Amino acid sequence: MNPISDIFTGKAVSSGDILLELSYLIAALLFVFGLKRLSHPETARKGNLWAAGGMLLAMVTTAILHRNDAGNGIPMANLMIIIIAIGIGATIGWIVARKVKMTAMPQLVSLYNATGGAASALVALLEFPKAMAGNVGSLLVTILGLIIGAVAFSGSLVAYGKLDGKVGDIRAGYMKYINLVLMAVTLLFGAWLIFSGGNPVEQIWAVWLLFALALLYGVLFVMPIGGADMPVVISLLNALTGIAAAMAGFIYHNQAMILGGILVGAAGMILTILMCKAMNRSLLNVIIGAFGGGGAAIDREMGIMKEITVSDAAVLLNYSQKVVVIPGYGLAVAQAQHIAHELDNILESRGVDVRYAIHPVAGRMPGHMNVLLAEADVPYEKLVEMDDINPDMHNVDVAIVIGANDVVNPAAYDDPSSPIYGMPIIDAHLARNIIVMKRGAGKGYAGIENFLFFNDKTRMFYGNAKDSLQKLAAEIKNM
Ligand code: TAP
Repeated sequence: MNPISDIFTGKAVSSGDILLELSYLIAALLFVFGLKRLSHPETARKGNLWAAGGMLLAMVTTAILHRNDAGNGIPMANLMIIIIAIGIGATIGWIVARKVKMTAMPQLVSLYNATGGAASALVALLEFPKAMAGNVGSLLVTILGLIIGAVAFSGSLVAYGKLDGKVGDIRAGYMKYINLVLMAVTLLFGAWLIFSGGNPVEQIWAVWLLFALALLYGVLFVMPIGGADMPVVISLLNALTGIAAAMAGFIYHNQAMILGGILVGAAGMILTILMCKAMNRSLLNVIIGAFGGGGAAIDREMGIMKEITVSDAAVLLNYSQKVVVIPGYGLAVAQAQHIAHELDNILESRGVDVRYAIHPVAGRMPGHMNVLLAEADVPYEKLVEMDDINPDMHNVDVAIVIGANDVVNPAAYDDPSSPIYGMPIIDAHLARNIIVMKRGAGKGYAGIENFLFFNDKTRMFYGNAKDSLQKLAAEIKNM
């Protein structure tokens, strides 16, 4: 049943059907409006609510107004099961989302991606017998929904395990060939299922085999990815979840599901492409799971790290003209964003120009630093993207690196064996002086040494970022 096409073909359409389609249209508009607002930290919270409102509207109107081809609504018993399932899912989602630490957000996103992929794959599995009786178009969307949903499900679970440190990397060079062959076999098998028109009983077995193949591909494609490259994969898996949901929407001729899925898929795909660009990786390499260098960083003379005292750091900053703060994961762990802003206010009141350099994958989720700094009311104009700040770094008197490591590691430029080789970085090494705030000799996410810390211009300020910044702010205030 599709009331919109039925209107044009002159078939009888009930007012309930029209109302339902209208509610889907409003829901779609709310999704778009919400998505637009998500693009700025100041409006993101409300944007999320608008989009959630759209989803709620679509769910309620579907429950009340949906009719099957025989004109019957959803039976009360089924409705009860649906409401109980939504209640359980919403409660778990609410509790987990409230409890999760900001630094563990990518793990949560991975789990959400996994559930979205699983739901779409299950819809495709359940509806496959019906699709067999339909045309090639319905078989195509069902098979695509099954493959993409299953890959998103198992891939996201592996991504969750890796982010949480429960699953290691398998980085053998032959993995990319295995992945390429497995992807080709899965797609060809899916195509055979669509066009073979064989025995229905055999087809059911075959579709389960296809499901297993897609699950295996999801595991193997995420397995070799590691180091600094995980954010791109999570974003890609998010896009796949959206596309799988859109396929499920096609299966049910449900406009809200189609539109919602397409929006998630498109937004995820755009983010993936932007991240690939930011990390200097190709999308094909991501898809065959061959990315992220495998070698260890080259062995070279490191020199020594030199420490700085609080008073020396305070003098250096107080008499600077241009200071750039480079925040990273450690700032988030220490929750040092408020005190960082306080220090910036003190320096500004003494005529120092302070800006924040934002690397696209600093922290553990896209926009992590933007969200943290917005939380501390740092004016958005002070946040400068990597590409805009780098040309000016050689004019900067002091770069303060707060809990950042990989995103300022010059190995990205000069060590082809490094896992982060080719990834653009913030050029902290070009500043006249560099102060690095970290607790000790801990490595960054990619697990490699950082030669910036051994640079002649670099001084290490050891300690928890929040404590260090508090001491520094107090010292400058007393000057
Ligand atoms: P990292 O390279 O992870 O380095 C963080 C540094 O912070 C560590 O060297 C650690 O050293 C220090 N640190 C930890 N806790 C601290 C605390 N309480 N106080 C002070 N310092 C502390 O961070 P980054 O430069 O932001 O780079 C992010 C990395 O994560 C990239 O490799 C990126 O690809 C990856 N990643 C990003 C995302 C997204 S989407 N942003 C998602 C997954 C992975 P000590 O232990 O010595 O203190």
